[in-house]
Amino acid sequence: MASRGNFNSRLGFILASAGSAVGLGNIWKFPFEVGAGGGAAFLVIYLFFAFVLCFPVMTAELAIGRHTQSSPVGAFRKLGFSKWSGIGYLGLASGLLILSFYNVVAAWSFGYFFEMVVGNFEIGSHFSEYVSNWLKIGIYGIIFMSATAFIVSRGISHGIERAAKIMMPLLLSLIFGLIIYSLTLPNAMVGIQYYLLPDFSKVTGAVVYSALGQAFFSLSLGMGALITFGSYVKKETNLVSSAAIITFSDVCIAFLAGLMMFPLVAYLTKGDLAAINSISGEESFIFETLPAVFQSLGPVLGIVVGSIFFLLLSFAALTSTISLLEVPTAFLVDEKKIKRSKATWIVAGIIFLIGIPSMLGSGASEFFANFVKLPGSDSSLSFMSFVGVVGGSTFLSLGGFLISVFVAFIWRRKNFMDEVRVENETAVNGFLRQYVNFAIAYICPIILGIISLVTI
Ligand code: PHE
Repeated sequence: MASRGNFNSRLGFILASAGSAVGLGNIWKFPFEVGAGGGAAFLVIYLFFAFVLCFPVMTAELAIGRHTQSSPVGAFRKLGFSKWSGIGYLGLASGLLILSFYNVVAAWSFGYFFEMVVGNFEIGSHFSEYVSNWLKIGIYGIIFMSATAFIVSRGISHGIERAAKIMMPLLLSLIFGLIIYSLTLPNAMVGIQYYLLPDFSKVTGAVVYSALGQAFFSLSLGMGALITFGSYVKKETNLVSSAAIITFSDVCIAFLAGLMMFPLVAYLTKGDLAAINSISGEESFIFETLPAVFQSLGPVLGIVVGSIFFLLLSFAALTSTISLLEVPTAFLVDEKKIKRSKATWIVAGIIFLIGIPSMLGSGASEFFANFVKLPGSDSSLSFMSFVGVVGGSTFLSLGGFLISVFVAFIWRRKNFMDEVRVENETAVNGFLRQYVNFAIAYICPIILGIISLVTI
């Protein structure tokens, strides 16, 4: 059999997985979810879900992938449980749906980079016109999807691993640079207070549910992305500690994104808490608000900081779109024996097409803008929000539930532990592994099961 490819080093694997995790979810979504969910109140719930629920599921996904050396659909079959391949197909569906709208938001961000380079700060007040210009967004979208496909088509170590090794350090330095800068602005501390003082009165069932969805989405869990990445990992690699590092890095970057964003908003609103509150909970938050922040820095500094910011966002998105595209690509390579390069471009084309309604629903088409009428109210969901809720949240937590049930009760915890145990294990590692062993059977299925039931 032709080699499927492998990560060359543990560092490369961790960077690629952290790159998958860190993306628009951290920098675009997380801050507005925090704004809408009571600042640190949301943060606390989010951290709970990330470490208590998601970390064990992540270890489980990596273990399934490495044990079977196979992408999600084939993985369950190789373990001898073909009936459970449904989890793999559910993951494929989630991946296609997520990438279809994710690429549109990535296209907006990428386009904003060019707007900032030429100093077009007015764009923030014309955001709705900008996103309804389907031709322009379509072109940016094609460029972005092609960049993704180009990297994926080059394979694991030459494409995905190499891209992550270049982009992740760059991303970190840009974020640190921007945080330091935003903390020096007037009223920065008001923003930090807004971010870090919890307002528990905003916490509703819906907020808890969105924190869970956000945790799964942000950690790229529940759709087999990490089963796929796990299948390229060497036997000696310590999966428990890798999962801990990936979870920790992703959570840190989301936290840092908040540290970068809230001082900027506080600066723009001159420290007016009510104003911070009203703008920070919006989905269009970074696109509408930040250009005004950059403008107020003056033409030169504004261009520099503004273009760095949107470049950073585009890089973060790219390391995630790569992993989203890798899942269906690996499926075609493993199951249908199609050549990687051909498989990549076919899937990229199909997903771009599935994304067109999301693109049109942001202004160009009334039909896709109000795609689903919400029962009992006048409001409706756009095609993009609908796909986001279904693929980006519901399917992921359902996938996480099924994966934990599968590992704990079908594949069995003994086999799972055999896969992740390492020689000369440290005390901390032993403790984390025992926690994973416990949580995968007693915590994850119960909490995720209840939440999945309530959702349905
Ligand atoms: N984790 C990515 C983000 O936060 C999105 C993603 C979800 C990537 C699922 C891969 C799989 O932006």
